[in-house]
Amino acid sequence: MADGTSETKSSNQMWGGRFAQGPAAIMEEINASIGFDKKLFAQDIRGSIAHATMLAHQGIISTDDKDKIVHGLDTILSEIESGQFEFSRRLEDIHMNVEARLSDLIGPAAGRLHTARSRNDQVALDFRLWVKEELQKCEGMLTALIAAFLDRAEEHAETVMPGFTHLQTAQPVTFGHHCMAYVEMFGRDRQRVRHAIEHMDESPIGAAALAGTGFPIDRHMTAKALGFREPTRNSIDTVSDRDFALEFLSIASICAVHLSRLAEEIVIWSTPQFGFVRLSDAFSTGSSIMPQKKNPDAAELVRAKTGRINGSLIALLTVMKGLPLAYSKDMQEDKEQVFDSAESLELAIAAMTGMVRDMTIRADRMKAAAGSGYSTATDLADWLVREAGLPFRDAHHVTGRAVALAEQKACELAELSLQDLQAIHADITDKVFDVLTVEASVASRTSFGGTAPSEVRKQIAWWRTRN
Ligand code: ARG
Repeated sequence: MADGTSETKSSNQMWGGRFAQGPAAIMEEINASIGFDKKLFAQDIRGSIAHATMLAHQGIISTDDKDKIVHGLDTILSEIESGQFEFSRRLEDIHMNVEARLSDLIGPAAGRLHTARSRNDQVALDFRLWVKEELQKCEGMLTALIAAFLDRAEEHAETVMPGFTHLQTAQPVTFGHHCMAYVEMFGRDRQRVRHAIEHMDESPIGAAALAGTGFPIDRHMTAKALGFREPTRNSIDTVSDRDFALEFLSIASICAVHLSRLAEEIVIWSTPQFGFVRLSDAFSTGSSIMPQKKNPDAAELVRAKTGRINGSLIALLTVMKGLPLAYSKDMQEDKEQVFDSAESLELAIAAMTGMVRDMTIRADRMKAAAGSGYSTATDLADWLVREAGLPFRDAHHVTGRAVALAEQKACELAELSLQDLQAIHADITDKVFDVLTVEASVASRTSFGGTAPSEVRKQIAWWRTRN
């Protein structure tokens, strides 16, 4: 009953021994997690098979019962996979839905499966397995995104574009170099993913409710069977820890921020005013009223998804912050945040990989913009230091006067005459024009990690060996 009064329905068949009445309808509604944790069915069944196998190996249950349990669980797996399984909210969660069905299928032997375990270590196991698989998927997807950027960088190692600070033209760079900045960012994300997999690679099963168990279980055996490096070492921590989920959400948030910055650049670059890139039809949409428009919707949605991913991190941090050890039901709220973020992040990475691979780079527009806004002013100052022996501060001042003159004449620095420049500083020779072009500017920046095409190619080669 939605008004919260109690019902006299029979009490829960799993833990109802001491309860005279079934749950109020509103209690069932707030308590149940099956609506979302059914996503964990494969992990739940795998975990139970490993647990039952270990129980039989240790002589805690008979081989005959173990065989029945494993067979029943296999049947349930195919029932769920083929959409025949009926999930029941009255049975709260995935763990009890599976166990109740097992009891229908194999009778009393089903009741032996939960020996030496609790839903507390069971849910910690299922969720950890799920998050670990998700991290492995993200690792692969990030590798594909990095590969897309490496290909574009190689193709455009010489393509000059304006580099920006404050979104004001700063110095010419190459588009290849700009692409490689994203390779660094997504490369760090991938490292974070790898580290997180390493941190979480411990099996929770066998911690039981919180204190461990008196049954002679072998936690190393289940850990190995489930692909974990080793079992966790403290049963209290094991059932109260959700660091692996928080780490996933932190990594997802940082990665989403990177994707969002890229999305923002694509939005800017694809405007008619910038015109640096043209998005493929596959990743843009038209307007229902303005026929000329081609909108970067995919990029905008990637930018927006960051909001929900960052929100999920804050939500789970807030759920966890006040919890005493060990398990509290609050922790059931961990899953939806992680599931939603995982879905959003996968979509965002996939859409970005497609956009990066598909978009047309308009090298002519980039080059024209690279030369405007006195972007080679620093090159003039550096030339004065190198060739005329001026201290950099004086060279900066002389260059400032040259910029002011060009502005007055409404021309670029390279369009000033030698006489104009010599009137500002007598030591300037016609050699200076060699450094005032954008190509010369980028080619000169050969410092390690700099924008010179030769340097960018070295960085590409380094990354190619790092996949
Ligand atoms: N559905 C629960 C969750 O997601 C499973 C663990 C329940 N444990 C308990 N002691 N009530 O957290």
